[in-house]
Amino acid sequence: MRDVSHLPPALRGLRLPLLGAPMFIVSGPELVIAQCKAGIVGSFPALNAREGKGEPAQLDKWLTRITEELDRHNQANPDHPAAPFAVNQIVHRSNGRLERDLEICARHKVPIWITSLGARAEVNEAAHGCGGIVLHDVINNTFARKAIEKGADGLIAVAAGAGGHAGKQSPFALVEEIRDWFDGPLILSGAIATGRALLAARVAGADLGYTGSPFIATDEANAPARYKEMIVTGSAEDIVTSSLFTGVSGNYLRESIKAAGLDPDNLSTGQAATMNFGSGSSKAWTDIWGAGQGIGVVKAISRAADLIARIEEEYRAAARKIASEFIR
Ligand SMILES: Cc1cc2nc3c(=O)[nH]c(=O)nc-3n(C[C@H](O)[C@H](O)[C@H](O)COP(=O)(O)O)c2cc1C
Repeated sequence: MRDVSHLPPALRGLRLPLLGAPMFIVSGPELVIAQCKAGIVGSFPALNAREGKGEPAQLDKWLTRITEELDRHNQANPDHPAAPFAVNQIVHRSNGRLERDLEICARHKVPIWITSLGARAEVNEAAHGCGGIVLHDVINNTFARKAIEKGADGLIAVAAGAGGHAGKQSPFALVEEIRDWFDGPLILSGAIATGRALLAARVAGADLGYTGSPFIATDEANAPARYKEMIVTGSAEDIVTSSLFTGVSGNYLRESIKAAGLDPDNLSTGQAATMNFGSGSSKAWTDIWGAGQGIGVVKAISRAADLIARIEEEYRAAARKIASEFIR
């Protein structure tokens, strides 16, 4: 396993080598603040912060709230400071807010910028200009190389089984191919729902893990009760992969597809050209609920801090067990 000394300061000194993944609609200030206070990087998509026409930018308000609450926490708990937070930017031509959101994030000196669905040099420059780092999310080695060429500092490898827009590749194949040429920060995403899985990600060559779906079943998540219940009762067999809802392949809860009157086993193929992040919430995400294959271990709705404590306990127990086998 690699030590963490090569990582940028924002990714060092965490209680656990873990980022709470950004989730459309689901992640907002409550969840981010709870994740950061509990010692892991919390994140949200900038597009979740929406205001009515003519109203002041909600993103500005959210960033002020997050920064102030974390500052207060740090003053009261100098021995257990909060982890830094991240904002996710969807770098897709249909995202008409991108330029404005970049300006707001730069003004608030956002420490970690996560970019998805497009690598653009000017976004990386905006982040670097305010002292931030950029982690770009990729589903294969070709996109990984492009992202680093354009100036990203690190990569989030989204493997098969992840919630939302997942990759198709095995995490072992994906991490090995990227690690063959890339020595910088590498984060693995996809069905990392236990401390054991997090340790496995690090052993496989990643520096940190990235966990989304288990946080849907937390008190702080912005998700309807029925959605949280489906995470608690569901398992890998309840996850359906389809491109119908957004034009790109993604993982969704079978029951939510049925509830929307569709047959999850007979879904037509979507068209990439239909991807649209410009208009409000689409049927995908509001009615068709995203989730990854790791949800089988989520047995109850809990506070985010309790979920993180559970993952930490498992992570340390797994590390002790492995160490005892090798150090005799
Ligand atoms: C409901 C949902 C919404 C998501 N929305 C986004 C998003 O807006 N931007 C993004 O980069 N990733 C998004 N993702 C992907 C996550 O950031 C992450 O890659 C994934 O949740 C990790 O897999 P896991 O859910 O198995 O932990 C979403 C995932 C889910 C489950």
